[in-house]
Amino acid sequence: MKITTSLVKPNASESDALIVAAYSDEKFNSTIQETDQLLNGQISKLHNSKDFKANGGEVLTLFSDTGKRVVLIGLGKKDKCDLDTLQSAATKATKALVSTPANSVSNYMTDLSFNNIDQATACKIIALAASHAAYRYEATKNFKKDNKHGLDSMELYSSEDVSQSAAIAEGVKTTRELGNLPPNICTPKYLAKEAKKISKQYENCSLTVLNHKEMNAMKMGSLMAVARGSRNMPKMIVLKYKGAEESQKPHILVGKGITFDTGGISLKPGANMDEMKYDMCGAATVIGTFVAVAEMQLPINLIVIVPAVENMPDGDAYRPGDVVTSYSGKTIEVLNTDAEGRMILCDALTYAQEFEPQVLIDLATLTGACVVALGHNASAVMSKKTQLPQDILAAGEDIHDRGWPLPLWDVYQKQIDTSFADMQNIGGFAGGSITAGCFLSRFCEDANWAHIDIAGTAWNNKKEGATGRPVAMMAQYLINESNK
Ligand code: BES
Ligand code: MN
Ligand code: ZN
Repeated sequence: MKITTSLVKPNASESDALIVAAYSDEKFNSTIQETDQLLNGQISKLHNSKDFKANGGEVLTLFSDTGKRVVLIGLGKKDKCDLDTLQSAATKATKALVSTPANSVSNYMTDLSFNNIDQATACKIIALAASHAAYRYEATKNFKKDNKHGLDSMELYSSEDVSQSAAIAEGVKTTRELGNLPPNICTPKYLAKEAKKISKQYENCSLTVLNHKEMNAMKMGSLMAVARGSRNMPKMIVLKYKGAEESQKPHILVGKGITFDTGGISLKPGANMDEMKYDMCGAATVIGTFVAVAEMQLPINLIVIVPAVENMPDGDAYRPGDVVTSYSGKTIEVLNTDAEGRMILCDALTYAQEFEPQVLIDLATLTGACVVALGHNASAVMSKKTQLPQDILAAGEDIHDRGWPLPLWDVYQKQIDTSFADMQNIGGFAGGSITAGCFLSRFCEDANWAHIDIAGTAWNNKKEGATGRPVAMMAQYLINESNK
């Protein structure tokens, strides 16, 4: 969906549909009054009869004599209207239109004044929510020809610049599409191919991909241990974007790219195992963020690194009890082959540091424990630094794609000590997300590093699928960095 802005009033709009919003405790503004005239007074009639009270969540589609659709939405009380309210109202209003014949919409939600929300933020939230609502997964599904979906364009009533929101929306879409693809299609090789496409599509981009032979020769023994069980060979995907002088050290994002996680020999139970196709959502997130940054042409240097591996049980698979030597030289006792994410990430993080990042962030659907701790609303942000996680969390607040901190105190480290190697790959039941973070921290001692566990936020359920989170948080973080 193309997102633009304009200051054309409702009666001059050429769009197929209009979206107008009202508070329940404020008089209708001029936009609603004008729209009411277009509708021969339908809105005031519905309001006077209390059929429409403008409570939060209320949505009505009305029709003008000339065949224009008007989606009327309620936002509830003005001082209770927060980013959640705006986000869900924009989603609902857009969803009311996506399967109608309307292709274009003028959205007047931003013609309201907000309590504690500036116009630029309101525009961002509404643009992203609308684009999100207009997305439908189509890659492997046959739709009837008349089953129209989506909107080609949305015009937001504003004088703000929404090009960054549009870029982020594009990144989110990329991430959702990759996340939703089935594991027989979205293999490590496929991810590398998509990365190639992206590197050719935008200015200032380049790509290198390490194959299994190269990674073996480099002695990435931890990543290669996980990879051994699969016929789909692993890839290390390195996407570079150069938006600043060579002398400016890069921001590096590393994304867990387990294209399917069976658990390996420590096999997962059958129920919902299919959802482990989403175990590459860290990879999808960093690739989507790359798209957003390249689209915006931010004045920073960005490197995105994706260790892409499939975790399968096999006669040659790695086993519980194995001790492997990571790329860093540190040895790891494998006590559970289902704790594979950290096994591939540690080698990718060690590799990433060869590019001398100013900031190193990994994103991973790393632990089920993270879903227990924070549910589906916050990504878990962990770091041993103070400023970096604060900046990440602040960016998440800015764009309403939020994180929440978990501690990486040294007292947790002993849970992954073992007599048989430098560390073991699981830390037991207590603080499962934190001990996974502790494991990674042992490979990032000299870096300005943060780890983000997105197990609760990257996908929703079978129907909704990949959410594209936290691309917005990451893109906003990099925008904020580029403004420093
Ligand atoms: N990919 C999973 C984590 C996961 C599970 C994310 C369910 C979302 C929903 C990860 O590889 C994994 O299996 N982690 C184990 C770690 C354990 C063996 C220490 C887990 O969380 O159970
Ligand atoms: Mn696993
Ligand atoms: Zn996994």
